[in-house]
Amino acid sequence: MIDDEADRRALPGNGLPAERVLAEVRALRSADRPTHGGRLFAYVYDPAVPGLDELAAAAYAGSAHVNGLDPTAFPSLLAMENALVGAAARLLGGGPGSAAPDVVGSVTSGGTESLILAVKAARDAHPEIAAPRIVVPASAHAAFAKAAHYLRVAVDTVPVSASTLRPAAADVAAAIGPDTVLVACSAPSYAHGVVDPVAEIAEAAATAGVRCHVDACFGGWTLPYLRRLGVDVPPFDFAVAGVTSISVDLHKYAYAPKGVSVLLHRDAALRAPQYFAYADWPGYTMVNPVIASTRSGGPIAAAYATLRHLGDDGYLRLAAATRDAVAGLADAVRAADGLRLMAEPESTVVCFTATDLGLDLFVLVDELAARGWHTQPQLSYADLPPSVHLTVTAAVAPRVAEFGPDLAAAVAATRAAGPVALPAELLALATTLTPDALTPDLVAGLAAGLGLTAPADADSAGAEQAADPADSSDGAGTAGPPPGRMAVVNTLLDAAPPALRERLLVEFVGLLQRPTW
Ligand SMILES: Cc1ncc(COP(=O)(O)O)c(C=O)c1O
Repeated sequence: MIDDEADRRALPGNGLPAERVLAEVRALRSADRPTHGGRLFAYVYDPAVPGLDELAAAAYAGSAHVNGLDPTAFPSLLAMENALVGAAARLLGGGPGSAAPDVVGSVTSGGTESLILAVKAARDAHPEIAAPRIVVPASAHAAFAKAAHYLRVAVDTVPVSASTLRPAAADVAAAIGPDTVLVACSAPSYAHGVVDPVAEIAEAAATAGVRCHVDACFGGWTLPYLRRLGVDVPPFDFAVAGVTSISVDLHKYAYAPKGVSVLLHRDAALRAPQYFAYADWPGYTMVNPVIASTRSGGPIAAAYATLRHLGDDGYLRLAAATRDAVAGLADAVRAADGLRLMAEPESTVVCFTATDLGLDLFVLVDELAARGWHTQPQLSYADLPPSVHLTVTAAVAPRVAEFGPDLAAAVAATRAAGPVALPAELLALATTLTPDALTPDLVAGLAAGLGLTAPADADSAGAEQAADPADSSDGAGTAGPPPGRMAVVNTLLDAAPPALRERLLVEFVGLLQRPTW
């Protein structure tokens, strides 16, 4: 299909016919993990509702060129954004007649941006604090660390219990100091899907006069529906007096295409320091509620269409299907030889670990992938063992019966294969090397040795190579394009302390992100 080298470039000498270009994109996409079908337990959120993708794509296309930079020029976008914020606020205990009638918010590009802005608003509300700090549980999403890094805010991390996977509210209270500008908690956490003691944490924050952000990016859209279905969901939203802001991602359990999250504040005064305005230049006066300035209307229109089409009744049905899928998967884990749930599922996550050293979870992840189930390995952390994470969406429900037998077979194959034994020199490297001692040569050799990159003399990977499904992989892990088996890579990372893990991943991904000429 690809005629010559020049034609393979993103910018060919002569423009190509639309059909051919689309065929190329489809060919590239065929190497990806399956976004639909209920067998990918991370990255994607699939309601398996016929026609929804087409509707969202049409809405997206119709607004893709609209610019959110200026809400007065494109009132359609403002109207849809305000409607999305209203829907999210109502779902999460705000709006007319509620305990939080004055909730306001913004649509952002994703959970990370919502959290960065929550931290920015908290920081900028206190210009008198020279060295601001935030208090977060160890289980809080990594985006808080990113926000703190970008915004030069220090982080006080509160440990979580190895049995409940939650922080103790008393520990959170003790961590709050005079320079604390924000306390955060999760509803639920991504890694284990458990809801933090929001009411107690928010009370501690309020007592100290500090903002409290509830990160409901992951499950905030589902918890209210699970509660309506009878699940015992603890208070976590604006009904809790001390909660000052909440984030909820529409591109997760609201099942909208990627690029939409909502950041809500209890009132406009709390939101004000989130904005950035600038008039001290000769161009247009700029006022941005979010990080991006130019913003496509596509994601917002697609999310609007998704909510309107699914409706409250649709989300309730999808939550019921998800709840049943979670129960079925958890049963399969309980029945497996040598696995235990990290926590009894209370939202839409199933997370399990091994009960004995003979069962190597990283090998199990590969064995599951070989059987078409794409799970997410989580490395050991502090006193928490490595684990396997399943984000469960409604599309998983029809697949559940197939999972149990495949899990049992994968467990048996994992036991037969035995645990990964890292070569002694690799183990020594992982445990003794300091991040600063990593040289480019060492990284390149390591990456090639682990099969993460092609050897230097075979690096002509372009569209053609990536398009070949034979090159695709079922591996699950942290860096792509992964080879078939990631257990060795995950074992190496697991043996390394977090600072070395970070540095190795940065280097590995840097090797992958090379221009194709
Ligand atoms: C609890 C939580 N917060 C924040 C995020 C970050 O969201 P995003 O990947 O959309 O930036 C995630 C993503 O999984 C999450 O689960």
